[in-house]
Amino acid sequence: MSRARAIPPFHVMDLLARAKQLEAEGQSVLHLEVGEPDFATARPIIDAGILALRQLRTHYTAATGLPELRQAIADYYRRRFDISLDPRRVVVTPGASGALQLALSVLTEASDSILLTDPGYPCNRNIAKVLGVNSIDVPVTSQSNYQFHASHISEHWQGNTRAAMVASPSNPTGTIIERSVMSDLSAAVRSRGGYLIVDEIYQGLVYDVDEYTALDLSDDIFVINSFSKYFGMTGWRIGWMVVPESFVDDVDRVAQNLFLAPPTVSQYAALVAFAPETDEILQQRVVMFKERRDYLLPVLSDLGFKVPVKPQGAFYIYADCSDITRDSFQWTRELLEKEGVAVTPGIDFGEFEANTHVRFAYTRSVDELQRAMCRIGRFIK
Ligand SMILES: Cc1ncc(COP(=O)(O)O)c(C=O)c1O
Repeated sequence: MSRARAIPPFHVMDLLARAKQLEAEGQSVLHLEVGEPDFATARPIIDAGILALRQLRTHYTAATGLPELRQAIADYYRRRFDISLDPRRVVVTPGASGALQLALSVLTEASDSILLTDPGYPCNRNIAKVLGVNSIDVPVTSQSNYQFHASHISEHWQGNTRAAMVASPSNPTGTIIERSVMSDLSAAVRSRGGYLIVDEIYQGLVYDVDEYTALDLSDDIFVINSFSKYFGMTGWRIGWMVVPESFVDDVDRVAQNLFLAPPTVSQYAALVAFAPETDEILQQRVVMFKERRDYLLPVLSDLGFKVPVKPQGAFYIYADCSDITRDSFQWTRELLEKEGVAVTPGIDFGEFEANTHVRFAYTRSVDELQRAMCRIGRFIK
């Protein structure tokens, strides 16, 4: 079978297509499936993008990104986390997606394996497939916050395993990895000669707890980030990765060949993403996301969903729906057809207990969430 044929569909995309069709037929659909902020990119970033175009910034940049943006990212780590970082280790990428492809390309060879959480972000498994790398999908439960503990590493690491990937906060569960657990994970992976890849794409979208970055724990961790989520720039296709010093040249060469360069206009726009006037706007959005989560959690519980670990980040709630249905795939389809509410079935994030889980994205206003919950209540009855 060709590698492409082995890539499963992203079911939420089919669901989205059906939702759009229903909307075109005049039905109202409430979207709790979409994994991107409903807010448009903040005005200062848009203005910087427009200015870059007016100034005819339309050529390629270096494959690893504009030096001033790499410096701005290094400065961000100094300001937020008091970390001094050589900007040479910062690589600007076409979204976190580009960074994930680069990380796996430089770390693995065909028929190597990597450890992933199940449930987890589905594209990682599929990027691995395209590279001919085996993913070992390790079931994680609420007992470990739906994240890896060092014991998962010791239990599942094999002779050909090169890396373990985690996301904190995670998609789909919104749970974070505590600092001490991350530190143990890093040690467990390093002691086996492998690398830890930490996806921090939801950094900044964290509620109630203090944030840290895995960069603070070791210089050997691949840390991935993006302007997509906190910075609200999904469509600009821009992110970054901080790589261990010894991988800088490899990443540069692979980036030159895979992407030539990240998008130029987006890089100029991203230069103002860290400015205080932008941050003020983004911080107000964080408050709104937290309000949405705090609205949704108790209502979901009243409706019969179980959320054993309080999600502390991102904009997702991964809910156990076993008291309502044991076929979440069919259930999400019927919910869309009968009540016009779109949510993502567990199957999009892995296989482990996928039929008894669904993901709610709170990327819509509280008002819309309220209407969606009313409809779901009616549907369940
Ligand atoms: C955990 C995680 N990593 C990476 C990505 C890719 O994001 P982007 O390429 O837009 O930066 C996503 C998108 O939803 C995600 O949830």
